[in-house]
Amino acid sequence: MYLGSQRSVIILAIVLLAIYAQNSKARVIHENGVKSMVYLSPKITHHPGSVTNKNYYDIEFPKGHIAIKSFNAEVVDEAGDPVSLQETYLHHWVAMRYYRRKGVKNVKFNGNHGFNQPDLIKAGNAGICNQGLSQFFGLGSETRKTSTYVPDPYGIEVGNPREVPAGYEEIWMLNIHAIDTRGAVDVMGCTECRCNLYNVTNDEYGRPLDPNYIGGLYCCYDGTQCKVKNELKSVERNLYMRYTVKWVDWSDSILPVKVYIFDVTDTWEHTGIHDCYIEFDVEQSTTGVATNDFISISRSTVSFPIAGDVIYGVAHQHSGGISSALYGEDGRIICSSKSIYGKGNSVGDEAGYIVGMTTCYPEPGSVKIAKGEILTLESNYSSEKSHTGVMGLFYILVAESSLKVNGPDQVYEESIVEVLFSGVAVFGLAISAAIVVVYQRRKQSEDGYESIAT
Ligand SMILES: *[C@@H]1O[C@H](CO)[C@@H](O)[C@H](O)[C@H]1NC(C)=O
Ligand SMILES: *[C@@H]1O[C@H](CO)[C@@H](O)[C@H](O)[C@H]1NC(C)=O
Repeated sequence: MYLGSQRSVIILAIVLLAIYAQNSKARVIHENGVKSMVYLSPKITHHPGSVTNKNYYDIEFPKGHIAIKSFNAEVVDEAGDPVSLQETYLHHWVAMRYYRRKGVKNVKFNGNHGFNQPDLIKAGNAGICNQGLSQFFGLGSETRKTSTYVPDPYGIEVGNPREVPAGYEEIWMLNIHAIDTRGAVDVMGCTECRCNLYNVTNDEYGRPLDPNYIGGLYCCYDGTQCKVKNELKSVERNLYMRYTVKWVDWSDSILPVKVYIFDVTDTWEHTGIHDCYIEFDVEQSTTGVATNDFISISRSTVSFPIAGDVIYGVAHQHSGGISSALYGEDGRIICSSKSIYGKGNSVGDEAGYIVGMTTCYPEPGSVKIAKGEILTLESNYSSEKSHTGVMGLFYILVAESSLKVNGPDQVYEESIVEVLFSGVAVFGLAISAAIVVVYQRRKQSEDGYESIAT
């Protein structure tokens, strides 16, 4: 094509821009060796009071053997403008990884029966909950002001071809749970999924709700409707989650970090198994006024499976959350993360909402966890008001100590042997263990049996 005039250059630029916009992404941007790309999720259609909670498989994601450096996101409208939490509450989103059998499209997560299908294998994080919480990234209303950057020389390794089972390919899934609170009768009630505000009698799987269940995910699943003011006209609009992934191509100079997520509802201390209920309620304090103490403290413990250095940490809480911390067996603080509340009406600073969480970036090597060390997670909420369906999660990135650093940029061969071993030998074992777990789960849910052994 001969571009003789400035005009055709401009037209070409406009056409290219339009193509980029349609493809939902711009080109890869390189900055000091770090690549970055902006993507749009599939379209999310909302009207006042509506709830969407959908899983989008095979989302756009950087390909190849890479180390992820960060994953940032926000909800935007069709014009690309950021949307306020006051209009669309981002309850949560998670980005998860799977291995999908080649040639198979449209595999769907099979409701509460989980992964009882051979076409899709969860390639989750390093733990700790038995099911759920296997994401690599995931936040909620705090997304805009929470740092996710993984400092050098560390990175979250994905796309390693040696880890993908033969006949499978690695794909990513994005789950986005958003609640449109425009014109809501009780905005905070909608965001806390209070059952009395939603048009539900059964949960998502058709099981009748327990009358004692007053709020949480079982009442605000995909397609439910929160109560809005009568005179409100239904104004439909399309939204997207715009997410930015930063990464570097994999090399031996990168030290891999493992993703661990702890949950304050983890039952391990009492049952010996990591059943994580993910959400819980905070009761309003009856003694708070007298004692001037409105703090509700929740705790759980876990035995940490590896020895390593903590590289990054952050908590996840919902409105009402104050702070959270992870403590070592000797009581030292491994990481403390506080809720940051908005103060105004602008996007990213919405009053009453948690708009960010503080993060920990310990000097590498300064915060160590021993193998088998008992960690305590503490999550503090305000009990001045009651809260339903809140969460107390803690996310840490750990560099395993067995990867000995020889000089600043070099990792011993043993790490490669280890990766190979876990990739080849343990993999079959892991799959069969996962299948057994899924099978048992399935039996339990089919029997209508909930395992709350105390
Ligand atoms: C709730 O209301 C919405 C919108 O009116 C409707 O599409 C949906 O089917 C209803 N859901 C339930 C569980 O009643
Ligand atoms: C939670 O509250 C208790 C009581 O005020 C306090 O001692 C503790 O330090 C708090 N924990 C965190 C993580 O802020």
